[in-house]
Amino acid sequence: MLRALDRSKYEVVPIGITKSGKWVLEADNADRLAIQNGVFPEVDSANPAVLFTADPSAKDLVVQSNVPEVLQQVDVAFPVLHGPWGEDGTIQGLLELAGIPYVGSGVFASAAAMDKAHLKAMMQSAGLPVGPFEVVTNAQWTSQREASLTRIATLGFPVFVKPSRAGSSVGITKVKSQADLVAAIEFARQHDPKVIVEASIENAREIECGVLDSATGPKASVCAEIIVREGHEFYDFEAKYVDDSVELSVPAKLDPALHEKLRALAIEAFLAMAGEGLARVDMFVTGTDVVINEINTMPGFTPISMYPRMWAETGLDYPALVDALVQDALRRGVGLR
Ligand SMILES: Nc1ncnc2c1ncn2[C@@H]1O[C@H](COP(=O)(O)OP(=O)(O)O)[C@@H](O)[C@H]1O
Ligand SMILES: [Mg+2]
Repeated sequence: MLRALDRSKYEVVPIGITKSGKWVLEADNADRLAIQNGVFPEVDSANPAVLFTADPSAKDLVVQSNVPEVLQQVDVAFPVLHGPWGEDGTIQGLLELAGIPYVGSGVFASAAAMDKAHLKAMMQSAGLPVGPFEVVTNAQWTSQREASLTRIATLGFPVFVKPSRAGSSVGITKVKSQADLVAAIEFARQHDPKVIVEASIENAREIECGVLDSATGPKASVCAEIIVREGHEFYDFEAKYVDDSVELSVPAKLDPALHEKLRALAIEAFLAMAGEGLARVDMFVTGTDVVINEINTMPGFTPISMYPRMWAETGLDYPALVDALVQDALRRGVGLR
């Protein structure tokens, strides 16, 4: 993204967030911040710490030192972040308080889409298709474990056991028999005390669609298909980021009528969750049947990621897509809308 932003149009101030949550100024060096040979870069925790003031009339980015120094005013933020505190409405809330427009969904849609259980409930209430699932909260697992296991058993096997609020496939297990269920729930709980268990949609095609907001409403990209090759039971973390075990088919080879149906469904889903900016709607397709698996409000955005590739195939290349997102954020602004 650093590489793609048009420097004749934008002055870019990269901010890194360390693993402990400290915000630091980063060097504007796209190469250093790229994933290289499977190695993930880390931000420079020794760099000067920065913060946004919660004064919406200032929009100041302040360098913290003994004597705080106002670096500059910020027009718009691009939260290039995954997961809790990045994609779940919390940083969006911070930016709302600071009065700084930002790319992507607002507080509500970010929080709702981050939680797979809430997202499914929202889709259901809009009459959109989702697969069978059961939720096990921390309280239920602690005090009603047997009843929880009985509920889950109604789904049959195999099931997918997931942290309700994670991503990148972390903490997810495909469970084929009762004997492995408790261990899978405990594993998911290492990432989130709230767990969702879903009936496995067997032999389904995994189809994704990109949604991009605009002044005239959301638009859908062409769809793409994830084809997981040998050695991976599903689209797991290694398959997503590290090895070469998936084939991304862009555009997906779909019957044109089905393709249009999926694109329309992606837009309906985006509207149903009050999405803004962008989202990637992930679906499972069996024949002509479709269920929505999940919606990512800040989908993977490396040059080889699905979201930018789907838009490139639709006629919007990576720099144009990044520009459209920044302009969309500036158009929307902050506050109730
Ligand atoms: N109910 C399901 N049926 C079949 N496959 C599933 C199901 N849920 C998840 N998967 C597989 O696991 C992967 C990760 O699950 P997902 O819900 O997308 O979690 P994440 O938010 O971590 O991406 C999916 O891309 C798919 O390959
Ligand atoms: Mg996913």
